[in-house]
Amino acid sequence: MSVFHRSKKILDYLKKTEKSIGLVPTMGALHIGHISLVERALIENEIVIVSIFINPTQFDNEIDLDKYPRDIKSDIIKIKEIDDQIIIYNPFIQDIYNNNLNIKKFNFGFIGRVLEGHHRKNHFNAVATIVEKLFKLFNPERAYFGEKDYQQILIIKSLIIKSSLNIKTIACPIIRDFDGLALSSRNKLLSEKERKIAPIIFKTLLDVKNNFKSGKIDKLKRNIYNNFKSIPLLKLEYLEIRENITLKSIKKINKKNKYRAFIAVIVGKIRLIDNIELSLI
Ligand code: PAJ
Repeated sequence: MSVFHRSKKILDYLKKTEKSIGLVPTMGALHIGHISLVERALIENEIVIVSIFINPTQFDNEIDLDKYPRDIKSDIIKIKEIDDQIIIYNPFIQDIYNNNLNIKKFNFGFIGRVLEGHHRKNHFNAVATIVEKLFKLFNPERAYFGEKDYQQILIIKSLIIKSSLNIKTIACPIIRDFDGLALSSRNKLLSEKERKIAPIIFKTLLDVKNNFKSGKIDKLKRNIYNNFKSIPLLKLEYLEIRENITLKSIKKINKKNKYRAFIAVIVGKIRLIDNIELSLI
């Protein structure tokens, strides 16, 4: 199976088949985190489509978009090495956006307004615009997303309900490097010095996880914000503890709920996010 730049060619092929489809949307510069989604999709579906498209509308600015890593040749090799039957959709921009870069306005309510939704205006509208297009094009049975972008998964689930689609969202665990740093295409942009210090992000999440049960949330957050002030190269944008479905902030721990800690840190000039499940046991 080869690489397609136009969806029509894939659709012509799919018309002739009744097989189950698993979709893995990506922006390329593939790493083992992405590969883990592809491998899971291969187990659960007869046909796997991996989309590789740097969606220009979901970036905060031109600089961020320009410097985003691109490596389509090695992406294709990586996918073919897993299974050469995988369909790669690497669309021309016109195949997705016609002649304009219009973003559809969704209303995801509270989950779209907090955390990334608060710090990156229009980001989730842009993500939902492209994902909805991919969903409507290929109508997959299952779509695979990583918990690295946990809030994105909640947005996609909401999108599926809003657009009355019949697609199962499969949430896959975060894959980390040897020192705990969550794999991300943006890690490639870190200098050696920045890469060395970046695991503090995960260590901070572990710190929250270990101290969460104490219930002293405000104190815990205050300490972390203070610690970050003395770390060169790192700027803590936010550290939040939220209920894991509604993303409501936590006042008092309720044993019936599940919680997650979310973090965004600017390392040098590179913005990285991560999150962790918090258990009460
Ligand atoms: P991208 O950042 O390329 O990520 C593609 C998918 O890989 C997402 O579902 C993301 O959560 C997952 N992923 C990234 N790093 C991971 C890791 N370390 N472990 C597990 N999964 C990981 O997310 C996007 O692209 C875009 O917003 C997209 C959904 C493609 C829409 O443009």
